[in-house]
Amino acid sequence: MIKLSTSFVALLALVPFVAAQQSAWGQCGGQGWTGATTCVAGYTCTYNNAYYSQCIPSPGTTTTTTSHSTTSSAPASSSTSTAKLNTVAKAAGKKYLGSATDNPELTDTAYVAILSDNTMFGQITPGNSMKWDATEPSQGTFTFSGGDTIANLAKQNGQLLRGHNCVWYNQLPSWVTSGNFNASQLSAIVSNHCGTLVGHYKGQVYSWDVINEPFNDDGTWRTDVFYNTLGTSYVSIALQAARAADPAAKLYINDYNLESSSAKATAMVNLVKSLQASGVPIDGVGIQGHLIVGEVPSTFQSTLQQFTALGIEVAITELDIRMTLPSTPALLAQQKKDYQSVIGACKAVTGCVGVTVWDYTDKYSWVPSTFSGQGAACPWDANLVRKPAYDGIVAGFTS
Ligand SMILES: *[C@@H]1O[C@H](CO)[C@@H](O)[C@H](O)[C@H]1NC(C)=O
Repeated sequence: MIKLSTSFVALLALVPFVAAQQSAWGQCGGQGWTGATTCVAGYTCTYNNAYYSQCIPSPGTTTTTTSHSTTSSAPASSSTSTAKLNTVAKAAGKKYLGSATDNPELTDTAYVAILSDNTMFGQITPGNSMKWDATEPSQGTFTFSGGDTIANLAKQNGQLLRGHNCVWYNQLPSWVTSGNFNASQLSAIVSNHCGTLVGHYKGQVYSWDVINEPFNDDGTWRTDVFYNTLGTSYVSIALQAARAADPAAKLYINDYNLESSSAKATAMVNLVKSLQASGVPIDGVGIQGHLIVGEVPSTFQSTLQQFTALGIEVAITELDIRMTLPSTPALLAQQKKDYQSVIGACKAVTGCVGVTVWDYTDKYSWVPSTFSGQGAACPWDANLVRKPAYDGIVAGFTS
């Protein structure tokens, strides 16, 4: 989806850690950690691994009036599961549970340590560095350094890679949008861009979002430079170029608001049918899954089945479930249920191959900078502490 603004990222990096003591459950140590190393009263900074120490309740600390004589357990706002997400996804017959990531985040050692655990994440997606503005900033000049970094990380970690994306109306360099190209010129440009991009990563990508967000929410075509110049033919031009460049990669069309039966989902079904009827390669539909706490559509699973009934696979490609801030124990509990129902729907549909969260931590979520007043959408909080949503993912795969 949308790129975090550079200034937002810079601001995050510059926020000084003025608190002398870390709050309950917060990070208090680890390689690269520059914040507080002591905890508020009642909590002890406890070593977890080289990358992460956390403030947990001190032994012997009593909480409130008590009818329970046992030690206090973690509050409702934290996770207790010990299962690893990709392990449970594979045990449920899926190819992966994955995460998006982005190049600026890779200097964060604690973040990378969790991302790189392939029992936790079996797949990664570059959030920005394979997009058109990053890979062909001027016509015919390709730069793959950012994308290569993510591709190499996946390889090192033994993780699958999703390519994101070839053709999208957004994050397009102005030479594409303002070039006044005629149809034969733009057709060659799309074909060259997709062919070169997909070809560069030949053999390294499990699936490509060849087309991203082609439809408006009412199911009409988005009137971007591609549609306005080439009509719907840009879709088959891009898919054919991608197939020729890497015959083994699964080719997807990816969009949001495909999670319920809707005009947009119907438009996508009809597009897939028409591509199939014309012999154009199409292997999957990506259901982005940018959802809101308490609003997971009841038709989620049947909508997935509408796509797999066409003989293609589906994946949930950009899952996050946002709430109006501040987060509360009740919202976090509902979010846990929502993650469980989304994962459960994928588990129940054989052709749903995997789920990717749109970054695993609130620290790097795109939500707060895009939806004012909303956030806390990811399964780990901004201190890299697992939330109840984590347990919801595990429950979705295991129950
Ligand atoms: C498109 O533009 C190119 C370059 O100006 C020109 O050679 C070509 O004839 C045009 N094609 C059509 C179909 O107008």
